[in-house]
Amino acid sequence: MNRNSEATLSVRDLIVDIPTRHSVLRPVDRVSFDIAPGEILGVVGESGAGKSMTGNAVIGLLTRPAHIASGEIWLNGDRIDHLQGEPMRRLRGKQIGMVFQDPLTSLNPLLTIGDQLRETILEHLDVSKDEAHQRAIDGLKEVGIPAAEERIDAYPHQFSGGMRQRVVIALALCAEPSFIIADEPTTALDVSVQAQIIALLRRLCRERQTAVMLITHDMGVIAEATDRVAVMYAGRLAELGPTKDVLTDPKHPYSIGLMGSTPLASAGKERLTQIEGAMPRLDSLPDGCAFHPRCEHARERCRQNPEPRLEAYQNRAACWFVEDLYL
Ligand SMILES: Nc1ncnc2c1ncn2[C@@H]1O[C@H](COP(=O)(O)OP(=O)(O)O)[C@@H](O)[C@H]1O
Ligand SMILES: [Mg+2]
Repeated sequence: MNRNSEATLSVRDLIVDIPTRHSVLRPVDRVSFDIAPGEILGVVGESGAGKSMTGNAVIGLLTRPAHIASGEIWLNGDRIDHLQGEPMRRLRGKQIGMVFQDPLTSLNPLLTIGDQLRETILEHLDVSKDEAHQRAIDGLKEVGIPAAEERIDAYPHQFSGGMRQRVVIALALCAEPSFIIADEPTTALDVSVQAQIIALLRRLCRERQTAVMLITHDMGVIAEATDRVAVMYAGRLAELGPTKDVLTDPKHPYSIGLMGSTPLASAGKERLTQIEGAMPRLDSLPDGCAFHPRCEHARERCRQNPEPRLEAYQNRAACWFVEDLYL
């Protein structure tokens, strides 16, 4: 598969393995996608689908024994999948911003938020201390922290959860990265705050043309914030396409079930559809298509052959019978 040189991030045939005493688990299996400048790609799927593993592989934060077994990751035209240690850490600080579910994991409880912002800015941008201070204040204002001039001297625990996540977004953006990864950024927040944080992330990344990988199990967040969406199932991409198309006209039987069991997407329909069964564990993946035991359309071919793979820029599903069934 060719890399798209226009994309900020290109992932090709990524495989993550976890060797165990008895076998090798494969939480990410030949995943490919691109994210363009200013584009928000959503990655959605049930818990355990491999979303975080994919994200952590991209930013070099897999914890052993999990490791990239093969595939390519390109960021701004440079291959980064082999980077480790200090070069990877520097790249994360400068070119990659990170927003995780719990804002406290991204913030040092012992430092004021001003210290943390100024330190990050000074490490990655060629500016004076005064300018770093001013940029830190501007960053806090941009994410909607009231009285930023005074609040800059506060410690993380002095902020509410929603305000803390705003600070994390300011911190993620302050070194002007070209790529942001946000893994369940609003899952720990009150529902009333979630939409504000998503809108903020979306607006700031649009303005800066930052590419965003937005990982979530929440179809509402996908609908609200993303341009394209990748549906993951058992470590594989089931479907990838423009969000509007995938939400209104899903092609993969799993996506169809997922949309059917989401109140938002099914509003107005007569009944909610449910997918029978559960996603398989990594140590007991079925032969053939990973979804076939739960698929009402499964045939002999699905039991015998792994599902076809998705190309990064095609809007279609990894299903042998997409054409027969849905076109
Ligand atoms: N250290 C580990 N050892 C074995 N399996 C793991 C480990 N960490 C995660 N997994 C498994 O990898 C799969 C993908 O996990 P993850 O990427 O966290 O899912 P998601 O983010 O989609 O909820 C899950 O089946 C999970 O149980
Ligand atoms: Mg996760």
